Amino acid sequence: MTETRPTPIVACLAGDGIGPEVMAEAGRVIETVSELFGIRVRQVHLPFGGEAIDRHNDPFPSHVRAAVKASDAVLLGAVGGPRWNASPRRPEQGLLDLRKELDAFANLRPVRHMDIDLMVVRELTGGLYFGAKTLEPDRAMDMCTYDRPQIERVARWAFRLARRRSGRVVSVDKQNVLATSKLWRKVVSELHEAEYPDLELTHELVDSFAMNLATRPGRYDVILTENLFGDILSDLAAAVGGGLGIAPSASLGPEAPGIFEPVHGSAPDIAGQSEANPIAMIMSVAMMFTHGLNRRDIGRAITAAVDSVLADGIATSDQVSGGRVYATWEVGQAVCDALGHSSTAGAEFAEHPFEGRLVTRG
Ligand code: IPM
Ligand code: MN
Repeated sequence: MTETRPTPIVACLAGDGIGPEVMAEAGRVIETVSELFGIRVRQVHLPFGGEAIDRHNDPFPSHVRAAVKASDAVLLGAVGGPRWNASPRRPEQGLLDLRKELDAFANLRPVRHMDIDLMVVRELTGGLYFGAKTLEPDRAMDMCTYDRPQIERVARWAFRLARRRSGRVVSVDKQNVLATSKLWRKVVSELHEAEYPDLELTHELVDSFAMNLATRPGRYDVILTENLFGDILSDLAAAVGGGLGIAPSASLGPEAPGIFEPVHGSAPDIAGQSEANPIAMIMSVAMMFTHGLNRRDIGRAITAAVDSVLADGIATSDQVSGGRVYATWEVGQAVCDALGHSSTAGAEFAEHPFEGRLVTRG
């Protein structure tokens, strides 16, 4: 199946902290584009993370699992918070189980800000996150494994995206120390030579790469890396590129549904105060239309609306320096208003190269 159904089902997992607030704005953007583009999208809200632990004693209950698997795309807010620190079940485990369940191995984290245009491609279902673990009172272990197919499939994503962008990929590892990184570098190099010799591939060690990314982010384009390095580097990339408040992500597997979520966490310190920046969530909706629902035109329209809102300085406190601070819902409303204006003006939007639905269903 390569077509989504006439009324796609979006599983909305708002989760914890600021999750529900930013999800509300995502919902309004979906309703706005539905009207403007004459489509129907069914939003199904489901408990997830800490909220689901409270209600069902499970961060990813079986009925949610079933609903998610029957959906066309998963929108996720955020999970976790100090409330569950002592809980035997962790909200974050729900997120890891969701990624594994959907085999969402390719995590795309674009960062666009002034002269920075990065795409972090993070391997998402392997490495330290999913290896065997033991925890004893005075000793603990996390196992890190990668095999060739796991590395190849995520590297293909990086190369295919690079082909639509600048043609440059930097692969980040720690091959001077780690066996998994030695394999990573070898497999990425061999794949490059065999299938993508027209593209430029370089390799960097994660420590000096972090420094280079912090000091000269403008020189990079597609960044390919393993799970834990990608977790850390994508926060760093977001920080140098306008902040976590505007950083979206897509996590894609061999088939739909993909998972679309902001890079930021649940920010319990500002939850419930209408302070959270909804842009990362709204841009995740744009990625959902582009990569998950085969509507690149809608993804583009949302991106253009967000760009115009940011350019107008309509922003939450994390983005504002000096000017008026807008509430979460005001920023969401501004995006909806901007959508209304641009869509009636002929719906012509510049194509951005991080787009492209490269995943097919079934
Ligand atoms: C992220 C988050 C998650 C991760 C946590 C919440 C498990 O930090 O999506 O980057 O480490 O992958
Ligand atoms: Mn993270």
